[in-house]
Amino acid sequence: MALLDVIVAPDPRLKKKAQAVERVDAATAKLMADMLDTMYEAPGVGLAAPQVGVHKRIIVVDAAREDDPPAPLKMANPEVIWASDEKKVHEEGCLSLPEEFENVERPDKIKVRYVDENNELRTIDAEGLLSVVIQHEMDHLDGVLFVDHISTLKRNMIIRRLTKIKKLERRHPVEAD
Ligand code: NI
Repeated sequence: MALLDVIVAPDPRLKKKAQAVERVDAATAKLMADMLDTMYEAPGVGLAAPQVGVHKRIIVVDAAREDDPPAPLKMANPEVIWASDEKKVHEEGCLSLPEEFENVERPDKIKVRYVDENNELRTIDAEGLLSVVIQHEMDHLDGVLFVDHISTLKRNMIIRRLTKIKKLERRHPVEAD
């Protein structure tokens, strides 16, 4: 198990477009496993490779409820092949925007094609939280954060807050535990 450092906004690495994965090999599968460990440790329900500084089209997701068994998904090159016209608003957060939560509207249901950790092509139907998390993580692959879906005013407020915290942390580094 390896825990990876999650990049916090604002950071140019979070705005970069990720490249397609040619083949899910052992190194990619290991990265997926490490990303999942990092996500569970945070804790979070999704993580995209650009958030750990890797600009490849890879996301991991687990939207299972707390009382349900884990349902991890490891996806390379995810692609939405169908989305419902019906949209829903859901409160989102992001490991790269700690302590920030805002309502975002997205299609309610989606069908996604992706390559799994064994390099097999799969499709999945998602709705509710799973649909939200997959769409949120896929945005990261195109350098889009959930705050890019809200008003400029709110976005600037959040980015200013995070910039201030980063400056404080540089002046007073948090001791490693
Ligand atoms: Ni995120």
